[in-house]
Amino acid sequence: MRVKRRLKRSVIVAICIIIMVVIAIIMCFNYYKKINSYEYKLGKIGYNETEIEQILKLDQKNIDNILTKEYNKVIPKFIKQKHFIYENLDRYLAYYKENQRTDKGHIVTLVNVNCDNAFYTKTNKADENKGNLILVNKYNYLTKDYKTDDLVDVSVLYMYGKQKMKKEAYNKFIELFNAAKKDNITIIINSSYRTYEYQEDLWQSYANGHGEEWADSYAARAGYSEHETGLAIDVTTYGVKEQEDFEKTDAYKWMQDNAYKYGFILRYPKGKEDITGYNYESWHYRYLGVDMATKVYNSGLTYDEYYTYYIKK
Ligand code: DAL
Ligand code: ZN
Repeated sequence: MRVKRRLKRSVIVAICIIIMVVIAIIMCFNYYKKINSYEYKLGKIGYNETEIEQILKLDQKNIDNILTKEYNKVIPKFIKQKHFIYENLDRYLAYYKENQRTDKGHIVTLVNVNCDNAFYTKTNKADENKGNLILVNKYNYLTKDYKTDDLVDVSVLYMYGKQKMKKEAYNKFIELFNAAKKDNITIIINSSYRTYEYQEDLWQSYANGHGEEWADSYAARAGYSEHETGLAIDVTTYGVKEQEDFEKTDAYKWMQDNAYKYGFILRYPKGKEDITGYNYESWHYRYLGVDMATKVYNSGLTYDEYYTYYIKK
């Protein structure tokens, strides 16, 4: 009887020991899991719960990279921005250091389109494989020997002076012209395709007259103008003497509301001067094709931004 009771007690003790060992193992395992979690490691650096939540939205390799940096309360704030690109994080932080009062979303935009670099620095050859979607701006250039193809003469019906344009863009312009005519609006092409040499002379004449800074805010330097692709047009209408006055016309309003339906977008919008690098040009339109022009129009973004987020790759 006593032997039996002793045996029973030993079994209970053994079971208790096993349970305790299992609990200890689970606790060790959980502790190990915890100290190896991103939440714990980020917390250790100093990030709070809300900040950690932002950081955890990143890819694993980028979170690992954040762990190599010191705590910086601005990092989660940048991650939160709609067009945040991880590869640009250090440039956002550097720009922020110098421009703390600038909105973080705007810093993200400026850096994404390279505007943290002075204009005409850190330039790249424009990607000609993009066809009608090619981006030409102060950081993406066409070489001196760049030749656009499919240029056709613009009929005197649609232009002032003598002009050429890329055929596809020209055909869509004719559709645009006819649609505007139905609304009693006349859209006239003032300037379209330009050679490298023409652009060079144009910029130089502006610089001679008003200085380089002025010239840079109105005209591209040779090689950096999308007019050289044959896909850009400057438009006007009857009675407009100065280009700036186009903005006051019904033709301007018509273009704002309808140009994208024919594949053209306003390339240098008002309020986006620091992104495009040019003064507001109510007259300069760029052909992208109807699908892309509609997307860019609906996005409300400049083409520089749209290209960077959705086309570049
Ligand atoms: N006016 C535009 C920026 C050009 O020269 O291409
Ligand atoms: Zn233009």
